Amino acid sequence: MLSVQDIHTYYRDSYILQGVSLEVRPGQVVGLLGRNGAGKTTLARSVMGLTPPRRGRILFKNVDITRAPAHRIARMGIGLVPQGRQVFKSLTVKEHLEVTTRGEGGWTYDRIVELFPNLRERLRSFAGTLSGGEQQMLAAGRALAGNPTLIIMDEPTEGLAPLMVRELGRALRSLKRAGTSVLLIEQQLAFALRHADVIFIMSKGQIVHRCAPAELAADADIKSRYLGV
Ligand SMILES: Nc1ncnc2c1ncn2[C@@H]1O[C@H](COP(=O)(O)OP(=O)(O)OP(=O)(O)O)[C@@H](O)[C@H]1O
Ligand SMILES: [Mg+2]
Repeated sequence: MLSVQDIHTYYRDSYILQGVSLEVRPGQVVGLLGRNGAGKTTLARSVMGLTPPRRGRILFKNVDITRAPAHRIARMGIGLVPQGRQVFKSLTVKEHLEVTTRGEGGWTYDRIVELFPNLRERLRSFAGTLSGGEQQMLAAGRALAGNPTLIIMDEPTEGLAPLMVRELGRALRSLKRAGTSVLLIEQQLAFALRHADVIFIMSKGQIVHRCAPAELAADADIKSRYLGV
């Protein structure tokens, strides 16, 4: 589905991703963990075509997307739920979902509000008036409206109350049942361990460890070395 092969990404002179490789298989939830500044968001930006890598290759459904423009990558079926949600404060919930609804079948407007019942009650509210959790659901709903087959969620639980984290977990399980692949970037170890099929750990712009969630749960050394827990 997604194959990131030895990519090297820079912001001007800053050398950030230093040879990153990672795979997401169809229907898989891949957890990507790492401390602040490890390069997780830069990886998401590289895949989406927002900050393309200078070296290496990215394949999506066997098509080379390394230097494709961001709008084309989105149209091919990769959705991004950006870090910090980035909803449009002066658009309503309904407007967010209508503006982006695209493609055939799959995630229709009705199915999206079914997945996130909180949004249904707030359809006419401006996004800026929603709680952090509701904004997160809206950002996820907006990404789904593009009917992605792979969705990249960049720290979706950041700053959410425990009840909202549970809601998000429920939505993630529905996505998985619907066959959507997920690249789940997380700082909340417990959430990643609960939902991911496989875990990659990033440190200083490199993938330093790859394992099953149960293995990581039992590995105090890796957890303290790379995640500070
Ligand atoms: N636009 C930018 N210009 C220059 N450097 C940047 C830019 N964005 C990020 N960086 C740097 O790139 C490195 C990786 O940042 P990145 O945002 O990818 O980390 P992250 O793992 O997502 O961290 P966090 O968990 O805090 O979101 C950091 O050293 C950061 O300071
Ligand atoms: Mg980040």
